[in-house]
Amino acid sequence: MTFHLRIPGLVDIGVVDRAPLVFEVDAKPRVGRELHGASSGLGGFLTGRLRNKLRVGNTPLPTFADRDAVGRQPLLDALERHFEAVDFEAHTFRGDVARLAYYVARREDVEVGVVAQQIVGRCFDPGFRGTLRSYEDAWTIAEWVTRPSPRAAWTNLTGKLDRARDRMWRLCRQDRMMLHGTVLALPNLVQSLEHMRELFARRPGLEVDAMLRRCLEGPARLMRITRAPIETTGGPAFRAGALVIYDLKTARRRDPTVDLFMSGRWNQCPAHGLVPRLLRAVWRRAQHDARRPRLVHFVQVERTRKTEEQPPLTEAERKDLTPGNLEMLKQWELDQLYARLSAGSLPKGPFEGRFFFPEGSPLRSLGQAVPELSRRLASVNVDLVTRVGEMFWKGKTFFPEQGVVRNIIEHGGELAPAFGVHPAALRRAEIDGRDVPLMFPARLFRGESLADPRGESIIIDYDDGPRIDGYVPAIDFLAGRKGLRIRDEIRQIRPGLYLGRAYTDQRLLLMFTLHSEFAEGQDETAESGTRENANGASAQA
Ligand code: HEM
Repeated sequence: MTFHLRIPGLVDIGVVDRAPLVFEVDAKPRVGRELHGASSGLGGFLTGRLRNKLRVGNTPLPTFADRDAVGRQPLLDALERHFEAVDFEAHTFRGDVARLAYYVARREDVEVGVVAQQIVGRCFDPGFRGTLRSYEDAWTIAEWVTRPSPRAAWTNLTGKLDRARDRMWRLCRQDRMMLHGTVLALPNLVQSLEHMRELFARRPGLEVDAMLRRCLEGPARLMRITRAPIETTGGPAFRAGALVIYDLKTARRRDPTVDLFMSGRWNQCPAHGLVPRLLRAVWRRAQHDARRPRLVHFVQVERTRKTEEQPPLTEAERKDLTPGNLEMLKQWELDQLYARLSAGSLPKGPFEGRFFFPEGSPLRSLGQAVPELSRRLASVNVDLVTRVGEMFWKGKTFFPEQGVVRNIIEHGGELAPAFGVHPAALRRAEIDGRDVPLMFPARLFRGESLADPRGESIIIDYDDGPRIDGYVPAIDFLAGRKGLRIRDEIRQIRPGLYLGRAYTDQRLLLMFTLHSEFAEGQDETAESGTRENANGASAQA
């Protein structure tokens, strides 16, 4: 509802919620973003809290700078040109785009905010690392800005806000544009991705521009102060010092075609091209992941003989495969595909892992010969195992020189006491800026494949775990001879992507993929360094 409330000295606040009126007010040079000069007590309080916190030195963050602030326009023009050159297909972004696509298309275990923040940060600095901490910090600040509440006041009083702000200011090296993108603009991006996820569940085939119209989210409100009296057409008149709030959320509800980036106006968002390009890339990738690989053809009859006749996968067929679309395949198709791969080169460094139980796999087939209820229970169990497993198992890190593999187990430190193990006893590594426990050490070597004895696979064998440095008997036994007797084997699809099979006591348990964007960007002979490498992994075998 558009309204204007004025109690001299106490309140002088107007809310405008019709797009034409918002744009009319915003076009007036006498309406400012730098939040000073409010004539009322409430206006002074609401603007002062933001003005005092959201600045670097004496310079406010970009969306609190007036249109004629010194140096503003050239900086924005340069930023926009820089954004135009950002390529989401490039190695810096590809892995994160794939992660967001995975979030949109399938699972919940992707830390969408951290990944989105990392992408935005890398648009400014390719070495930027988003972490849970940096995302939480951004969230703390953004929430305090957008939702004045007792909780926000408490955040401020306890110093949490200042600590979060200082950490983010340092992380962004006091670059105001970068701070705006990784902190204040971030919720718009994350909400857009959440909408995409909801939409994908209902309309996965939707064309990309139609998706954008439905999913793009923008700021709910913007704040301005009038520097001199202004008149509006059909709306209220304001005196100097009035606080004017644009209720963009309502404006958009009334007219969904309202441009969220203020395109073509003095305050056009410099990311007006970048953000839609990113969301398009994520949507297309999600669509690609959610359909079966298009280039690989499977032979359905006389499987064994025909498979033997099948040539190795071509480069184009390999390129068409992603961790996401491999999960679309049935067990027999994966078997066939696996047989058309060779062991390839030994992986090196950390790989992101995902496991799955394809249709027709032993565990999924468990219920097929039994009544409906048992069948449903069986599938619930598989889904439960998948969910729980995904919470903990994040992949593997390889040390080929030592012939060792270790599993990346998130929350391993919290699990350890349940096995009577002190968390400090676990080996740890820093991977992608996060300190994670490594567990279940295994031997790495080339050996005979259980699935396809005609050829070699890369074998990951847990039996020899007790002889590997850092073995923690109370937990690590689970994978070995005295536990589930796990033996994994993997074959390379292309550098950076492997298809794996996990066996328990020689019986196929599940399929998995191992993926490293870093290794994908390397050629075969390049050093990817297990001890310290450029994708942020540092660990000791
Ligand atoms: C869904 C995502 C986004 C939407 C809808 C959006 C929208 C907007 C809007 C409406 C403004 C004008 C604010 C005002 O006049 O007070 C703005 C400004 C700005 N945005 Fe965005 N934004 C988004 C994401 C981003 C990202 C990711 C970045 C950085 C990478 C960014 C950088 C900026 C900057 C630097 C300004 C200040 C421009 C100026 O000085 O006028 N935005 N954005």
